[in-house]
Amino acid sequence: MGAETRKKVTVPAIRDAKGSRRIGMLTAYDYPSARMVDLAGADITLVGDSLGMVVLGYPDTLSVTMDDMLHHTRAVVRGTQSSLVVGDMPYLSYHVSIEESVRNAGAFIRAGAQAVKVEGGKPSRIRVIDAIRDAEIPVMGHIGLTPQSVNDIGGFKVQGKDADAAKRLFDEAAALEEAGCFSLVLECVPAEIAAYITESVKIPTIGIGAGPACDGQVLVYHDILGLFEGFKPKFVRRYASLEGEIVTALSHYLEDVREGRFPDVETESFHVADRAELRALYGEKAPIRVAKG
Ligand code: KIV
Repeated sequence: MGAETRKKVTVPAIRDAKGSRRIGMLTAYDYPSARMVDLAGADITLVGDSLGMVVLGYPDTLSVTMDDMLHHTRAVVRGTQSSLVVGDMPYLSYHVSIEESVRNAGAFIRAGAQAVKVEGGKPSRIRVIDAIRDAEIPVMGHIGLTPQSVNDIGGFKVQGKDADAAKRLFDEAAALEEAGCFSLVLECVPAEIAAYITESVKIPTIGIGAGPACDGQVLVYHDILGLFEGFKPKFVRRYASLEGEIVTALSHYLEDVREGRFPDVETESFHVADRAELRALYGEKAPIRVAKG
């Protein structure tokens, strides 16, 4: 469904979707990607800190700053009409103090996002989320593989594979629901564990590498479109291979320039209509046709 015919998606609408319809979420990082995600009908557009990897070329998300995130969030907001825009709080923006965390969450709202996403569910994180919620800011939780903890976890690995780790995830999910999160991302969690969490909480779960039982799914824009060919995680389904198509298109353009086939003098060039103007400039040598360079 096109964005023109859609109502603005709200936080309560996402909460109410649980049990009645599946939620489709995509990441976007700039004006054109946000427009396309919105036109495609996404319920939620996440300005993910994954932009550190797919847009800025870092090996992980840890170098992404608040300034980076706000810059991209503003562009995404300008490109969005209907989707709910969620800003991903970057590393160290909610780790130093509760006051700084609330201020940073508020900066996303002032940039035009309707909610923020915060990674993790340990007790100190729940206190931060409580304070952000107290400032009337909706929070999306995120547990399982939390990429900002990559050094602690020891790599981008599936989480919750044994009973103890799964139990920790259940407890975190319950604490995040209790803290007032309106939805919960489950990243790289075994399908059985994600299904159990989805059944046990009243807020919608949104899976990425967490199997089909979640209430919604999210994938990274560049992964879906094949714009980032470097690495394809198991859970990614590619719906296009745009990197190859774009490189082919760009190399055809460069070839046309080098071979003098671009621009075409008739269809891709402007002309002086009045020959008197040309004569005023060139005298009697005014060209009748422009020769190729
Ligand atoms: O940064 C991101 O893109 C994310 C999603 C993958 C959930 O956190």
